[in-house]
Amino acid sequence: MARNKIALIGAGMIGGTLAHIAAQKELGDVVLFDIAEGTPEGKALDISQSAPVDGYDSRLRGTQDYADIAGADVCIVTAGVPRKPGMSRDDLVGINLKVMKAVGEGIAKHAPNAFVICITNPLDAMVWALQKFSGLPTNKVVGMAGILDSSRFRHFLAEEFSVSVESVTAFVLGGHGDTMVPLTRYSTIAGVPLPDMIEMGWSSQEKIDAIVDRTRKGGGEIVGLLKTGSAFYAPAASAIQMAESYLKDKKVVVPCAAYLDGQYGVNGRYVGVPIVIGEGGAERVLEVKFTEEEQAMFQNSVNAVEELVEACKKIEPSLA
Ligand code: LMR
Repeated sequence: MARNKIALIGAGMIGGTLAHIAAQKELGDVVLFDIAEGTPEGKALDISQSAPVDGYDSRLRGTQDYADIAGADVCIVTAGVPRKPGMSRDDLVGINLKVMKAVGEGIAKHAPNAFVICITNPLDAMVWALQKFSGLPTNKVVGMAGILDSSRFRHFLAEEFSVSVESVTAFVLGGHGDTMVPLTRYSTIAGVPLPDMIEMGWSSQEKIDAIVDRTRKGGGEIVGLLKTGSAFYAPAASAIQMAESYLKDKKVVVPCAAYLDGQYGVNGRYVGVPIVIGEGGAERVLEVKFTEEEQAMFQNSVNAVEELVEACKKIEPSLA
């Protein structure tokens, strides 16, 4: 039986962590690509040498040649530059758009049947551009953000309520920027929505508001602490959940930057919404109902994404 092939485009901190988790889970054989000579080879070899201790048989290799991603089932794209303290994700648009062009062309040529997960920032605009540059079907190109933002939200809520993270569900929708929309009504402790938990005296509105604010700024908090780069463990874990759901046709329902074709009143843009991920890629969009206030927050987030897409079109006229 042929093994799955997972191509990781970018061998930085997220790329290396992705390679390690994918190998440990035996999701498939891993090709780690980066233009920086030595880095992907070194990381692939290092992880391979941990396999006998951990007991897994995934094969890993590093490369600078796009031809080596040929036939990949999944491509996870982290290539590009992370932000530094004091920067917003949006500041990366010019530099990372150029990277998406090269990556999109490489994937189109060598792995046109792959399920592509983009992590590069500013996420919602980069995944939109990557889909355009690659020409892959919109259901096969998605962005990783909502799972990460929701996971941050879940972690903070688990701490606040002193319960297992496994008992916390949470939804963060919208764009992956300061305008993201953590939805308290759709977030639960063991199925009980947060507003009810507050009413039962388990927390207060002020505390939940502070958690919502911290979630929105979650990426920046890590950037401020690390100083030399951005988060990598949680982003990698999130993307692996998406890859696994695709490869195993698990059909998990998770918030991701998905292509919207009229859903949520959005046309032709990528925005964070809950989707079903299975063998068909982004198989279905779950359209939750918003209150007026939630709708206004979501729209604000969509507008922020739209501004970034317009900026991309100005920088790269072929996208217009
Ligand atoms: C994150 O949320 O951790 C990533 O988008 C990286 C960043 O710059 O915040």
